[in-house]
Amino acid sequence: MTSFAGAGGVPTIPLIDLARRHAALGAEIEDAVARVLRSGRWLLGAELEALEAELAAWSGYRHAIGVGSGTDALVLSLRAAGIGAGDEVLVPAFTAVPTVAAVCAAGATPVPVDVDAATAAIDPHAARAACTDRTRAVVPVHLYGRPCDVAPLRALGLIVIEDAAQAHGALEHGDSLAVATSFYPTKNLGGIGDGGAVFTDDAALADEIRLLRHHGMRELYVHERVATNSRMSEVEAAVLRVGLAHLPAWNERRRTIARRYRAAAPQLAWHADHPRHVHHLCVLRTPDRNAFARRLPAATGVHYPLAVTQQPAYRSLARAACPRAEAWAAECLTLPCFPELHDDEVDRLCEALS
Ligand SMILES: Cc1ncc(COP(=O)(O)O)c(C=O)c1O
Repeated sequence: MTSFAGAGGVPTIPLIDLARRHAALGAEIEDAVARVLRSGRWLLGAELEALEAELAAWSGYRHAIGVGSGTDALVLSLRAAGIGAGDEVLVPAFTAVPTVAAVCAAGATPVPVDVDAATAAIDPHAARAACTDRTRAVVPVHLYGRPCDVAPLRALGLIVIEDAAQAHGALEHGDSLAVATSFYPTKNLGGIGDGGAVFTDDAALADEIRLLRHHGMRELYVHERVATNSRMSEVEAAVLRVGLAHLPAWNERRRTIARRYRAAAPQLAWHADHPRHVHHLCVLRTPDRNAFARRLPAATGVHYPLAVTQQPAYRSLARAACPRAEAWAAECLTLPCFPELHDDEVDRLCEALS
């Protein structure tokens, strides 16, 4: 959506514009959708099977399982790992709330842990301090598309389920039990509806997630588990297959844009960079967020305005103070950074930032 700023009539630079994605790839996407409709198989068919094979090859994990959303990818990973009532799961105190909601949905208790001041990733020292004899797992989040270091968390002896909803293409193959991701439309790899996936090398975990996503059935109407419906549609899978082929170029474009902002305004407090950062969100920190944003010729975002420890539905979970998470929430500001941003829009924003 284009909005217009001021009397000059200069269009405000959008924070995201999915219509541009369709303008660029519409024919490919519409062909994929039509192929599914003509096939007469709209769920659990050849497209999902092909997507899962392509995602596994792309990620290096032996198994990729498509599910209904990124939230479900986390919930089903936790459930398949045997995590539930009575278990505690460490989560960063600064994240998209679905990370935390997923732990609750699995029946376990999320324990918010403070984050690093530069990276906004869960702080391994605070994580160690939060461990009790009920702690079973940790869900590190690769926030904004920056890969966080999971090795110190693995050293805690917990099950590690990574939340890579914002980090398509940022991660190297690792040895966590599972990596969960989201294909929400604005993600680096986004669909045309909800979707998610779990990556794992563990065949038993993959099998369990396949069972849980389809009412616990291996055989029609024989329910081996009390489960749920979290099937990815064939249309979604076909559209994601189109996107997967473009993902490396899209990520490169995001990197170029983020690099340009940072080079134009090195004086600003940018979210820590990383060689594999895929800049799902390009974020800086400023104590005068509203005044700063008003001066820009762009729509901006706040990801996220409250830490988990400040959220009305979740603040009762707080065990320890999380001042760094709350400082991120108070100061973060997201700039437009999506592949279809025009060069002249990037130029205008660079000039305003410098
Ligand atoms: C870090 C993080 N985790 C989990 C999710 C949940 O994904 P979904 O919206 O596909 O359920 C999101 C997406 O909003 C996210 O950004």
